[in-house]
Amino acid sequence: MIRSAIEAMHNSYSPYSKFKVGAAALLKDGTIVVGTNIENASYGLSMCAERVCLFNVYSKGYRKNDIISMCIASKNLSTPCGACRQVMAELLNPNTVIILTDEQTNTKEYLVKDLLPDYFKMEV
Ligand code: THU
Repeated sequence: MIRSAIEAMHNSYSPYSKFKVGAAALLKDGTIVVGTNIENASYGLSMCAERVCLFNVYSKGYRKNDIISMCIASKNLSTPCGACRQVMAELLNPNTVIILTDEQTNTKEYLVKDLLPDYFKMEV
């Protein structure tokens, strides 16, 4: 999973920021699903690697209980942005481990529940 996240980072389409991010989710059936950040000349349309990865997982029909862990690769172990934390809080289990890595595989770990306490939930 860590290798896949780094590989996805290399596929980043980030001509504007030049900041490459990759993400990979390891699923219980052994599948690894990746995502990378994809930017646009209309900057606000850019999408983070974490969300591309998780939307890809869900698009394949998997759900949070199918996910063992998720890894995010960047040059400096950067943590997910606020928008991604909100999406991760809903699409992952609270005790799922998030591994940050750089290209040298220096790592740091977080639990989803520690990334965004009291995240927004729709109460209907
Ligand atoms: N980016 C991510 O892919 N994930 C984050 O959590 C924060 C930022 C991307 C978006 C943009 O393409 C670049 O990094 C610089 O902000």
